[in-house]
Amino acid sequence: MFEHQRGVITPKPTSSSQAACAWTMLGLLAAAGLTACGDDSASSTSDGATESETEGDSEPRLTWYRDVEPIVRTKCTKCHREGGIAPFSLEGYEAFTGLSSFLAPAIEDEVMPPWPPDNECRAYKHTLSLSPEQQQTLLEYMAGEMPEGDPADAPPDEGPPDEELVPDVVIEMPESYTPSTSVEDDYRCFLIPWPEEIQDTRYITGTEIYPGETRIVHHVITYAVTPADLPQYQALDDAEPGPGYTCFGGPGPTNGTARWVGGWVPGQVPFHAPSGVGQQLDPGTTLVMQVHYHPIGAELTDRSSIGLELATAVDRRAEILPLTDIAWLASNGSMLIPAGEPEVTHEVRADHSHPIIQSAVNRLGLAADADLEIISAGMHMHLFGTRGRLEVGAPGGPQECLLDIPRWDFNWQSNYIFEQPVIFRSGQEIGVQCWWDNSADNQPYVDGQPVESVDRDWGDGTLDEMCLGVLYVAEAP
Ligand code: HEC
Repeated sequence: MFEHQRGVITPKPTSSSQAACAWTMLGLLAAAGLTACGDDSASSTSDGATESETEGDSEPRLTWYRDVEPIVRTKCTKCHREGGIAPFSLEGYEAFTGLSSFLAPAIEDEVMPPWPPDNECRAYKHTLSLSPEQQQTLLEYMAGEMPEGDPADAPPDEGPPDEELVPDVVIEMPESYTPSTSVEDDYRCFLIPWPEEIQDTRYITGTEIYPGETRIVHHVITYAVTPADLPQYQALDDAEPGPGYTCFGGPGPTNGTARWVGGWVPGQVPFHAPSGVGQQLDPGTTLVMQVHYHPIGAELTDRSSIGLELATAVDRRAEILPLTDIAWLASNGSMLIPAGEPEVTHEVRADHSHPIIQSAVNRLGLAADADLEIISAGMHMHLFGTRGRLEVGAPGGPQECLLDIPRWDFNWQSNYIFEQPVIFRSGQEIGVQCWWDNSADNQPYVDGQPVESVDRDWGDGTLDEMCLGVLYVAEAP
């Protein structure tokens, strides 16, 4: 059922000369405070220094405590902390300033913080990206003397974030799992039964994933499987020793009916549906948790869990649409990505008659052409993906951008919540477009060697591809 690839499969090592350069700097140049790596416009941002000098004021314009630490705390140390997912900590003045010449290029090139969506497409909640002002503050500070300043100048802590979730149930992996340290990436699915004590229909109004071992859990996606479909998933689990089963593209089986429930990547806050909106889950449901482990050499054990906020009734029901072209699922060349091609694109435009939209509308109990409110969007491709875009509009008319990911990165797929929801009306189409690079220079590595470029098509395997727009929709208010 799954195409198990032998050996260690990794995406092509990062091609960004930027990143390679940054790592070199960490090792060789950071201590000397030198910068190398092409034109270094960070060092030209001397306006601030000049400004404070001409004012004849000894007060530095930017200090760690007053200006920089608050940005680093909200935008970097969610991941860059002891025991966090990132490979080094940026907590504290010494840690941050000691690495400044290594950090500046990643900040300037917007490699960090990792935030794949193009903010010009639309505005999202809980963005991880730096605002232009924040980016400027960090770069200007790092180009200067980096004064520590006075802890008393630190802006007041805003207290616990309002996005905290109080779960009604916490559902845990049935047993712990220790990924092998000899693989670079391990995609594992775990079947988690719905708590027996919940005997009636509930609506999920919020989800939060609690990664058990944050040093190795790279992303988590959860799905719901009905009792009727469970045997197919159970068979996959039974076929493999140890807890869970290997799954890369999704929980399987191909064309399976598992519904998406929620996902998580590091740095993401809990998901809250808008008030009165929730996704229906019936008793007897089994959750499937797909965890992407990125082992770090040490033998580490994980037992992740998911917290759900549940309601017994909602005003508007929600569904997650994994929108794609049904024809592609047949893997018969209708989503062909020919060998050697550096830029291949496929697109589907779905109106209300599209089977995936129809089945969601049916489950929501709505008229076939009912308006749907789109609340958040994500995309799913595999390792050859380079760009993805979702849009909505009347055929041939102006399109509203929902999500544009100009540099697709398999490791940072997430779900982006719109600042302003969008209504998908009868007569409009949702466009899902994916781009791939299948040229010889963009092949994943197996056991340290790039694989040969061959024709690719839809499939669950690591070297197959997919193209999905993942939309959280509800009955329009
Ligand atoms: C959502 C988690 C997350 C956040 C937030 C984040 N980082 Fe990272 N960072 C990582 C991970 C994980 C890596 C390791 C490389 C990778 O997987 O992309 C990394 C790598 C880096 C690197 C090495 C660059 C490279 O391409 O190898 C630098 C520099 C860096 N981070 C700086 C920062 C700074 C500065 C911030 C805040 C402004 C930040 N990061 C915010 C997760 C994060």
